Amino acid sequence: MTEIRATNITWHEGPVKRENRESLLGQRGATIWFTGLSGSGKSTIAFTLEHALIEQGRLAYVLDGDNVRHGLNKNLGFSAPDRAENIRRIGEVAKLFADAGTIAIASFISPYRQDRGRVREMHQQAGLPFIEIYVDVPIDVCESRDPKGLYMKARCALAAGKGMGFTGVDDPYEAPNAPDLVVANDRVTPQEAAIQIMAYLQTRLV
Ligand code: ADX
Repeated sequence: MTEIRATNITWHEGPVKRENRESLLGQRGATIWFTGLSGSGKSTIAFTLEHALIEQGRLAYVLDGDNVRHGLNKNLGFSAPDRAENIRRIGEVAKLFADAGTIAIASFISPYRQDRGRVREMHQQAGLPFIEIYVDVPIDVCESRDPKGLYMKARCALAAGKGMGFTGVDDPYEAPNAPDLVVANDRVTPQEAAIQIMAYLQTRLV
């Protein structure tokens, strides 16, 4: 749990409401959260979806794990507490984007169920849609793709008796029990996945 150090602070409510921003944009704010192993294709699908939404005239923005770790979260590593903090911060950022009326698309391994559950809860409490999409690709497929060479690195580290806490190799991935949508990205192209997701979103976003 996050230690709360901010004291003597007061929530300030301005006259502009979420509804005002949403009617300006002609859409509802929401968060679409991709979870899955490294190499499952989350980010490719996320950026394809962002493109498709923009083409439809909807404002969307991708928050991507590797990218966010270049800036906002550059001080976090891959220990369990650091991953939890990574997801907590991004959950808060996505919520702010959604509150601004944007469709926030988050693409993070987000391997721990509890951390994802907290993000869902914070959205529910704020009355914002949270759509969890599990990019379900078997580890051997992700490992054979190995786009960044990190599975190889993790296997070598493990063989050398060091280990690097890599998700799926020597750190756990907890698949969602009840995701809103499952995409089997070893059987569909990113474009097909994006079409599938767009069809689903029509039932969830107005
Ligand atoms: S998360 O676990 O905290 O959600 P996040 O999605 O931000 O991870 O970042 C994952 C990316 O970091 C991977 O796609 C990979 O490129 C890189 N990475 C580096 N070290 C690790 C590691 N030990 N485990 C998983 N991914 C790692």
